[in-house]
Amino acid sequence: MAKITTLKLQEMKDKGEKISMITAYDYSTACLAEKAGIDTLLVGDSLMMTMLGHDSTVACTMEEMIHHIKPVVHGAPSPLIIGDMPFGSYNESKEQAIRNATRFLKEAGCDVVKLEGGQEVAEIVKAIVDAGVPVVGHVGLTPQTVSKLGGFKVQGKGDAAKKVLEDALALEKAGAFCVVLECVPELLAGHITKTLSIPTIGIGAGRGCDGQVLVFHDMMGLYDKFLPKFVKQYLNLAPEIIKALEQYKSDVKTGAFPEESHAFGGVSEEDIKRLY
Ligand code: KIV
Repeated sequence: MAKITTLKLQEMKDKGEKISMITAYDYSTACLAEKAGIDTLLVGDSLMMTMLGHDSTVACTMEEMIHHIKPVVHGAPSPLIIGDMPFGSYNESKEQAIRNATRFLKEAGCDVVKLEGGQEVAEIVKAIVDAGVPVVGHVGLTPQTVSKLGGFKVQGKGDAAKKVLEDALALEKAGAFCVVLECVPELLAGHITKTLSIPTIGIGAGRGCDGQVLVFHDMMGLYDKFLPKFVKQYLNLAPEIIKALEQYKSDVKTGAFPEESHAFGGVSEEDIKRLY
């Protein structure tokens, strides 16, 4: 598969070809996504919840993100790889934002960065883009500031629709090449998608976006703390894995595993006797 670039995503929007994106946080998942031909992989800070067991994404650090981006880059040479900038890594100043965005490309090896927020981060987005780093925006429900939003709720209902539209427009004007729309009403997401010239990627934003993203652990049934309404579960792996682990435990206890076929030869009883 040819390497997917930011220009390719724009071309896909312009042609009406939908964009597929999933989250990936490790080498094995990245290899699977590469084989499945997924267009773009988001190393999302949702890894704090799905991989590291936190209740939110807030505590995520640059080091944790870089640690997870590197193996995804190694496992998936074709998809566009997006590194998600953690909370507090881009809000202090333009200099801090540029420094950290640049680290993602230089140290971790991803292609582009994503950050959360609308009009309030537009100047920071412009500074990062001007420094040569392509940026994906993220508006609607922004999990890093979930306390400020009052919880994981749909954003942009009724009169609040105007703010989400203006946030998305501000990001486009600032130079973002793509915007994630999270948990917004379907009609609003469709309207934003038609209004913007850059691609929109929806998560809980209905059918009108240019592409879709799902969290890998949600779609595969690997994260059972909470399943949002917008998730389509393609597999329910957790019960299968638990069943396999129970069988393994029982095999170890009874001696059914390992069998002869799992063991190595190369030492005879005579060799053992010669040890003494
Ligand atoms: O961190 C993440 O996985 C995300 C998606 C939910 C878009 O930001």
